[in-house]
Amino acid sequence: MKISLYADADADSAKAKEIAGTGGFSQVLTMPVDTLFLHLTNEGLRLERDSLFVMGDFDAMKRRLKHGNLSGEMLVKAMRLKDVPEPSVIDATAGMGEDSLLLAAAGFHVDLYEYDPVIAALLSDALLRARTVPELSEAVDRMKFFQKDSVRAMHDMAEAPDAVFLDPMFPKRQKSGLVGKKFQLLQQLEKPCDNEEELLAAALMLRPRKVVIKRPLKGPFLAGHKPSYSLTGKAIRYDVIMP
Ligand SMILES: C[S@@+](CC[C@H](N)C(=O)[O-])C[C@H]1O[C@@H](n2cnc3c(N)ncnc32)[C@H](O)[C@@H]1O
Repeated sequence: MKISLYADADADSAKAKEIAGTGGFSQVLTMPVDTLFLHLTNEGLRLERDSLFVMGDFDAMKRRLKHGNLSGEMLVKAMRLKDVPEPSVIDATAGMGEDSLLLAAAGFHVDLYEYDPVIAALLSDALLRARTVPELSEAVDRMKFFQKDSVRAMHDMAEAPDAVFLDPMFPKRQKSGLVGKKFQLLQQLEKPCDNEEELLAAALMLRPRKVVIKRPLKGPFLAGHKPSYSLTGKAIRYDVIMP
């Protein structure tokens, strides 16, 4: 899908040029109607269609990031390595980076990989804004973002991380309401995940201590690979493979 970039008159024009250049988006002077487009406002970058929009919002996660709350997060429990206080992690399917932020706030050093240029632009913008927020900046300093295919990157890696995290699919069904509608904007971009086997094979090939896979509660194992154990919540399951 061809996505164009529209910048408000009071938005940073140098930033608009940089986003367009990095993602290969054509900049338009009139706001697109009836189609998905990127919209640079002075509050940040949005993916928008007919006044419905989604933008990276790490601010909304501040409560979840508080120290006492983090230890209860299932993702943190699934990724934790008892003998490594600040493990290195590859988030091979970064998306909007929310899972990575949880891990970074819990002390993990996270390398994030996202190959979709639109999602990568939204994520870069969210990370940039979060650097200036006192409650977020320490965690964001532990996050390093790469706009790359993680399968290739993992094949080229000389050193194994302590753990790899995989979350290849945005949830298919969402209840009606704004959150659901916002996710529908992202789903309009996403190609079905057709690289499950390659993702898992590349992660296992690195021989990390753990590969953790986020799945819908009743979803099948990724690439049919039976995990060593699973942590289950109300709607989500974490399958943990100890290679
Ligand atoms: C479900 S989303 C991840 C959501 C993420 N956990 C979060 O907290 O926002 C999956 C993302 O993985 C990306 N992806 C899938 N395969 C990839 C690959 N081989 N390299 C980089 N990104 C990939 C997709 O473009 C999509 O944005």
